[in-house]
Amino acid sequence: MASAPAKTILFGEHAVVYGEPSIACAIDLRTKAKISKSDKIEIKSRDVIKTDVDAILDRENMRNKSELRYILTAIDKTFEKIGKEKNFSLEIDSNIPVGVGLGSSASVVASTICALSNFLKEPLEIKEISELAYEVELEVQGAASRIDTSVVTYGGGILVKGSDVRLIDVNLPLVIGNTGIKGDTGKLVSMVRERRERNPEIIDRIIASIGNITLKALDALKNKDHNKIGELMDINHGLLDSLGVVTRELSELVHLARREGSLGAKMTGAGGGGCIIAYAPGKENNVVKAIREAGYSSFISSISKEGVRLE
Ligand code: PMV
Repeated sequence: MASAPAKTILFGEHAVVYGEPSIACAIDLRTKAKISKSDKIEIKSRDVIKTDVDAILDRENMRNKSELRYILTAIDKTFEKIGKEKNFSLEIDSNIPVGVGLGSSASVVASTICALSNFLKEPLEIKEISELAYEVELEVQGAASRIDTSVVTYGGGILVKGSDVRLIDVNLPLVIGNTGIKGDTGKLVSMVRERRERNPEIIDRIIASIGNITLKALDALKNKDHNKIGELMDINHGLLDSLGVVTRELSELVHLARREGSLGAKMTGAGGGGCIIAYAPGKENNVVKAIREAGYSSFISSISKEGVRLE
């Protein structure tokens, strides 16, 4: 069995697709992928397929389920990379909310690749898993950066710029607020691309500014400059709004978090729904309470130092 963590993007989502830097950290929710022998390829999962009972699907049925495209592509690419195929039963068990920007798909992909390569007796190294997981996301979404797949494979804090991936020290307790609304990453990335094509000189500057925020945030994180970290989160959120990916619910949660004394708050991930993160040292419980009272789910996350691993 293999497992991989969830993630939040601290700074730089969307801009990272255009080569700007982005910072993310792994958080302590996990997907577990368990592989056992079978006479056909099948997937069992309640969490990913969203059925009341465990769904069991054979390979042909899988092709019609869009939620399964990530897993299916991960299987195909692992077979291709290793040059071996074998029947198996894959059981996915995850406590990561699906489709809300917490990296559920990257986590499923990385844990599946890790478990399957071990089952085939050709274990892939972390770097290979990370790269293959990125290829899967690229194929399924049409456009993707390495941020999600790197952070769930390496764990801890990550700085990504293009194909350059660095481990960094990030240890922030963050409050996560979940709108419960699913955003489609592929569509949101396309929406930003279209807005950029209509307004290139304006949007290019916004994307470059987001890149600058990320670099300044890197210094602020190093220097433990808490107020600066918060302020940069607020500015980053405003620029994401100007890219068109912030919804009313995301704004509502960000403003609630600020009202409760957060030093900063922003949406995280692709937007269009999904989650916010708030940096509220010492006031985390107040923020969680206010978000829950407004009818949304919320929790305090802590960093997961470990990325994908065999269990
Ligand atoms: O929706 P998520 O959490 O997978 O976030 C994607 C981050 C984007 O920058 C919007 C896309 C990408 O591939 O980097």
